Amino acid sequence: MRELKVSSDTSAYEVPASLDEQGRLTDDCVRRALAMMDTHGLVVLTHLLSDAEAAFGLDLIRQTIDDPERNRCSFASETDNRYLRRDFCSLPSNEPVTRFAATLCQRLEGIYSEYCGRTRALLEIITLTSYRGSSHQYIHRDPMGVISLLAAVEDVSEQQGGTVFVPGTHGYGGAEYRHGGAADELMRLFRIQCNWRILRHNLKKLWRMRKGEEAPLGDGEFLDRVFSTRWDQHQPNLLRFLLGKNNEFSIRMLGPRTLWKLYRQRKKLGNLFRLVQAAPRKGTVILYRSDILHAGPDNRSPVPRRLFAMSIARDVIDAKYWHDGYSPHPALTADPLCLGDLLGASRLLLPSTASNGRAKALVN
Ligand SMILES: [Fe+2]
Repeated sequence: MRELKVSSDTSAYEVPASLDEQGRLTDDCVRRALAMMDTHGLVVLTHLLSDAEAAFGLDLIRQTIDDPERNRCSFASETDNRYLRRDFCSLPSNEPVTRFAATLCQRLEGIYSEYCGRTRALLEIITLTSYRGSSHQYIHRDPMGVISLLAAVEDVSEQQGGTVFVPGTHGYGGAEYRHGGAADELMRLFRIQCNWRILRHNLKKLWRMRKGEEAPLGDGEFLDRVFSTRWDQHQPNLLRFLLGKNNEFSIRMLGPRTLWKLYRQRKKLGNLFRLVQAAPRKGTVILYRSDILHAGPDNRSPVPRRLFAMSIARDVIDAKYWHDGYSPHPALTADPLCLGDLLGASRLLLPSTASNGRAKALVN
């Protein structure tokens, strides 16, 4: 997106995965990853999954997406879901899914155990698929107190829309003292500055789609995405923007004092914060603290983008708060799992070094 300056250089946040004989991250790797998460709010662990393990995860996603009875997520742009611009759905707690999740948890135990106790809840296991024509999410924070994971089960290009992060914007005790005590206000302004540009980007894109360029619009889609009264926090919905009914970005956030501050601080904001877009290679896993500023971009390529995602709570969590922000599969709600369950569960029996073998036959 031309209006929004986004760097695709994630090298400052990357740690190459190095495993010990038990298939867990080495102590040195854990120490480096924790330093990244504490300093920047995220870490990009490259080569964490072998080709065979990533292929297994991709099969799980394909099987779920192909199931007409799949459980669609109730967050992150329902309108995109309705018009098949995105297909976000939760994965069932069956044996292959649990084994894949257990493999990730056990490999990352050194990191998880720093943030989450063994009794803390697995909030969701989902897959995030986006297609051409999806909207760029507004820059937002997920509910705090959660460690979230994104696993690339195939290569994700910038055009396909790897997740965008604003490193260093996560919360912790005393975080507000950053930037001379003005951190909260500066982050608020930066978020507004970005979201104004994202609104314009989404509107321009919809206009091009209306004229038959890019992905053709579905019946009623333009009106639904721009003038609908339905709740959706991540559409360029002008009606809800003007009525102040979008908590992520609305006219209520653009008072005269804020506009003046945005004008005065415009250069400083660009120097203090940077948007970084991950374009993870197959096998890369991103861990992030849920309250870091981030967004799922639009898919600007004809190739679907698929990611595996999983979230684990760092503390006790109220059921309403949980279900407002995360989408557990009904099977997970009926039979909850915690981090300790996944650390004790059977994992995949696949080569953990690079391999091109396929996955299905290797679960036993
Ligand atoms: Fe999010």
